[in-house]
Amino acid sequence: MAVLVRDLVASLVAGSTQAAARLISLLENDDPRAAEILVALFPHTGRAHVVGVTGPPGSGKSSLVNAAIRRLRAEGRRVAVVAVDPTSPFTGGALLGDRVRMQDHSTDPEVFVRSMATRGSLGGLAPATDEAVAVLDAWGAEVVFIETVGTGQAEVDVVAAADTVVVVTTPGLGDGVQTIKAGVMEIGDVFVVNKADRADADRTVTDLKMALGLAARDGWRAPVLTTVATEGRGLEELLAAIADHRRAQQAAGAVEARRRQRWRRDIVRAAEARLRAAFLDGATASRLDELVAKVARGELDPRTAAARLLDAAGAPAVGAGIAGATLDHIGVAVRDLAAAAAVYERALGLAAGAPETLPADRVLVAFVPVGATRIELLEPTDADGPVARFLARRGEGVHHVAVAVPDLEAALAQARKAGCAPIDEVPRQGAHGRRIAFLHPRHTHGVLIELVERPQRAPA
Ligand code: CO
Repeated sequence: MAVLVRDLVASLVAGSTQAAARLISLLENDDPRAAEILVALFPHTGRAHVVGVTGPPGSGKSSLVNAAIRRLRAEGRRVAVVAVDPTSPFTGGALLGDRVRMQDHSTDPEVFVRSMATRGSLGGLAPATDEAVAVLDAWGAEVVFIETVGTGQAEVDVVAAADTVVVVTTPGLGDGVQTIKAGVMEIGDVFVVNKADRADADRTVTDLKMALGLAARDGWRAPVLTTVATEGRGLEELLAAIADHRRAQQAAGAVEARRRQRWRRDIVRAAEARLRAAFLDGATASRLDELVAKVARGELDPRTAAARLLDAAGAPAVGAGIAGATLDHIGVAVRDLAAAAAVYERALGLAAGAPETLPADRVLVAFVPVGATRIELLEPTDADGPVARFLARRGEGVHHVAVAVPDLEAALAQARKAGCAPIDEVPRQGAHGRRIAFLHPRHTHGVLIELVERPQRAPA
């Protein structure tokens, strides 16, 4: 029963359609082995040409893909289709009619056809589709078509990051161009007027060309082609245009960029889905119910309710003032920085960074990273500075504790209100050029507190 992921992926790479079907199902259903499958799969991906095919219902996309498969098969090429229908969440029912035509290829082991719906698919339809495409890529498909039922937002999302996007329309759908929504015009690399044997086909072609203008993307101007899919007319030109686009993309170095765009989207979606699932667990869900009731009764506004929900879940606080403060570093006064750094290295295996002189503070500083925080070693550069005086009075040891805050002014205002007058009335520049201000130990039960404004990026 328990087939090893390793064996399944080995069968897949050897060309087993059963393994492909099985793996896509496991991924689609968020099987616990999904992560393991993807890890095993990814080294075998990146070869297939992924072609998105979208367009309004009734434009004959399935017939077109079907005809394209027939041609590619005649050339002996292995092909796959992932048909996506975001409107049929449970069974992919709306696709079944279209898929009947695909049965032309149902006995051909070199053709794989799969329907995807929104069922399962942690993180959404687009990532689920990309995972299915990755399986078929590893299976050895040279071309993978992603075909959508319509041109809704979810469908545009699914095909937008394909290597090549084919937009299909047809005469007689009213104004040919208006049936293609603006967002779809922008993602098309090849435009096809299908059912071009109809009377007003020329008009649709002209309208499309007008709408497209002379705009080029990555050095490629999208052509407008005509086809009669049911008779196989125009298919040779279409496949040539798809191949030309791939070559142009490769020449422009744009293939990699699009794939990155695709994986970026999928990574963010998967992370969001995991956060959401982990966040909305039992405890938070019941707290959410309470908050909903309060908002409904007008006792609370939704934004405040969201803040309380995050607080209740122990999520990192976000906002002004001291909220969101973290330990930035602990300052240690030493007489010989190099000697002290050598001890940290020898005794604890912690290496200090490059030393920096802070003339205003009359110290030489070096940071020793320790997990998420750091130890700051401070050596006085003359006998008169604050660290020199600290050493004379108290000897070597902890000199200050530094707390990073998102908003230094807000943190200082709060400290003042609590009676902790800052030593620095106005924040100044500390190590790494970050803005800092100190609170006097006499207000803080004996510890000099350094407030540091958290940088947008980690310091170099
Ligand atoms: Co410091």
